Amino acid sequence: MKSIPKKTKKSAAASGAGAAQRSVLRDVSRHLMNTYKRSDMVFTHGRGCYVFDQSGKKYLDFLGGIAVNALGYSYPDLVRTIRREAGRAVHVSNRSHMDRVFFTNSGSEAIEGALKLARIAARQKSGGTGKTRVLALENSFHGRTFGALSITHTLKYREPFEPLVPGVEFVRFNDVADLEAKFNGNVCAIVIEPVQGEGGIFPVSDTFWKCARELATQHGAALIADEIQCGLGRTGRAFAYQRLTGLPDIVVVAKPLAGGLPLGAFLAREEFAAAFSPGLHGSTFGGGPLVCAAGLTFLDTVERKHLLANVRARGAELRAGLKKLAAKFDFIREVRGEGLMLGVGLDVEGAPYVTEALQQGLLINCTHEHTLRLLPPFILTAQQVKEGLSKLDSVFAKTERPAKTQAVPPTTAPALALAAAR
Ligand SMILES: Cc1ncc(COP(=O)(O)O)c(C=O)c1O
Repeated sequence: MKSIPKKTKKSAAASGAGAAQRSVLRDVSRHLMNTYKRSDMVFTHGRGCYVFDQSGKKYLDFLGGIAVNALGYSYPDLVRTIRREAGRAVHVSNRSHMDRVFFTNSGSEAIEGALKLARIAARQKSGGTGKTRVLALENSFHGRTFGALSITHTLKYREPFEPLVPGVEFVRFNDVADLEAKFNGNVCAIVIEPVQGEGGIFPVSDTFWKCARELATQHGAALIADEIQCGLGRTGRAFAYQRLTGLPDIVVVAKPLAGGLPLGAFLAREEFAAAFSPGLHGSTFGGGPLVCAAGLTFLDTVERKHLLANVRARGAELRAGLKKLAAKFDFIREVRGEGLMLGVGLDVEGAPYVTEALQQGLLINCTHEHTLRLLPPFILTAQQVKEGLSKLDSVFAKTERPAKTQAVPPTTAPALALAAAR
């Protein structure tokens, strides 16, 4: 049989991949609910910090499924754990002796549980006298279920679903005076992301956090840290609140907890955890053995491989490189964040840079229109930091500069408040 010339073989494979990709995209548009803006990219697999599309093109992943794939792709220990557990029991009846942690299937579900815990604790403390108000911050994001959405500030997420859960009030970001004015004896919880993620990588100030801690103690309310995006090592500390003075009462985690499998949790100090009794809260799938085993492998790997130190070292290199790019390109306003949770604030729209980065084989995203967000895996190497920075340099140079928007970028308000609080 005549062999197919190499070139033809290649183009046949490419057109085969193209047809398969088109078919996947057709199915997606037909059968999945229209909840995400989708690109026409179909990723098939990944290894380490790289992911591949159907044509075999390789991308350096500086986003990690938005802070989920902290161990990159196909991490061998995690793959082993999942294989092992899948062959044992993927589901058993719920256990009852989780004093201080409740496992969930997502971040939003964990936020719901944390809010319920704060409400019931306040009800028991106050004898049911209307201690039900919840404070959250402007520019916050806490999830898409009704309770979580009610404490999420961004109007475009909230408005279409109103009326939401009542009793929520928003405090201006890092504004101590506003916090003091809104906190009273009817507050059962204040919810804070120690570093706002979707909002554009804005760290809460120590002054603000300390004040929230003091007011929560004074009024018997729960200080809830939403560490879903910034926690579990992302900033180079186990929890981002460790940068701040004073501990929270309830901590919510999810995203990287099971290395990409759906696992979230809320953890509580005993004083609050004790408010739950059987029947008050539950979850059919939360805390199943397969995902929890994957969770243990994630935590164990972070410790054994000294990944917090790696996050700090690579984060410092990446930040320094981004600062250099900020000095070179005048449309970069600032670099924010800590560890491997970094935001590049722009004077112009960020979307065209995300598109060009994709062309050049680099995954990043843009949040709040003007912030490029970098959330690479914790296993990132120094070489990959250099590779990412060199790609970004070329992305910034090659992209036709978007027009400066007339509107004040949404990042400005918290940035100013942050500066004022310093
Ligand atoms: C800070 C924060 N809280 C809550 C959530 C919601 O988590 P999930 O999407 O797992 O429900 C997210 C998701 O991006 C988040 O970043």
